[in-house]
Amino acid sequence: MLYFDYTATTPIDEEVLETYIRVERSFFANSTSLHKLGQMSNLMYEKASEEIKELLGTPNHNLVFTANATEANNLGIYGAVLKHGSGRIITTKIEHPSVYEVFRNLERKGYDVVFLDIKADGTVDLEQLEKAMNKDTLLVSVMWVNNIIGSIQPIRQVIEIVKRNPKAKLHVDAVQGIGKILPDFDFSDVDLITLSGHKLYAPKGVGALLFRKQMELEKRLYGSEAQFGVKPGTISVALAASLCKALKKYLPLTAAHQKYVSELNRHLRKGLERLDYIVLNSGEDGSPYVVNFSLPGKNGETVVHFLEKHEIYVSTGSACSSKLKKPERTILALTNDEGRATSSIRVSLSHLTTKEEIDKLLEVLEKVKDV
Ligand SMILES: Cc1ncc(COP(=O)(O)O)c(C=O)c1O
Repeated sequence: MLYFDYTATTPIDEEVLETYIRVERSFFANSTSLHKLGQMSNLMYEKASEEIKELLGTPNHNLVFTANATEANNLGIYGAVLKHGSGRIITTKIEHPSVYEVFRNLERKGYDVVFLDIKADGTVDLEQLEKAMNKDTLLVSVMWVNNIIGSIQPIRQVIEIVKRNPKAKLHVDAVQGIGKILPDFDFSDVDLITLSGHKLYAPKGVGALLFRKQMELEKRLYGSEAQFGVKPGTISVALAASLCKALKKYLPLTAAHQKYVSELNRHLRKGLERLDYIVLNSGEDGSPYVVNFSLPGKNGETVVHFLEKHEIYVSTGSACSSKLKKPERTILALTNDEGRATSSIRVSLSHLTTKEEIDKLLEVLEKVKDV
């Protein structure tokens, strides 16, 4: 089996799984219970939260564990925007649906929404962002690494632009960047940050939202006061500890993994460039973990199933929208070409991928010409 869909999800790391099992066994008590067992669970939960904040360098943020990044994006964006009845909010045309669809919904509610274009290299148009910022701007949301083409957004420059407007807050969906590429910005300069566990070898069912301590988020869920009232309900201490363990293990390995995967990426791109029926959508300067290409005239889904017959697993786009036969939104924003946007394939890599696996993929892709 050749798995090339690490952007959709990763297999769980054995050490992280061991952490999950150990903590779930030993710290099963409800962390809000007053008795000693409850207090032990609470200490474990607080330790996980503090360690993650330390790893990210965000001592002045609150951290809320969520079920996934979708929930974190929803809670963060709605939370920051809805407390203001109106205003301008800005995002890009290539955000993950869990950001993009929230902005579309806020547009229906009457907010003044700007969807920024992206340039030919897949990065956000910063001039457009500067022009779009006005005194009514409440929130800007720009992802760090795009999940479809892997473009790395210029977050450092985005921070500078947003900072000039003290009322505006910045949200960064860091899901595809964290533990994969080194940031050129400080997380402490970002007001709201989203993470997802299952994209970094932690179990499914855990993500996180970090938000600056001074911020008060409008509630979307009502219940207890657990997790600042932002995500009330009983906390899974084991999932919190697992996310912490994954970050503790993989953040220090980021540079080494990035270097190794960059070599794989170059090898794959070289091989793909030899196939004249393939057009690369991912740029050379993007995240090495994502290689997106189109096979104009073919249906992306047909190609996915052809590769599947050879036990090769790739994706047509983001896993969440792959069942809809629509042009891929990011590829359309990038190329303005429906043919390319309906025939795109995403190959995503990991430090677990080998050169031999890529050679096998390239061998089978040579047969796709006649599919
Ligand atoms: C950039 C980005 N944001 C958010 C998500 C949603 O993540 P989750 O599956 O944890 O909700 C994904 C998943 O593909 C993603 O790639």
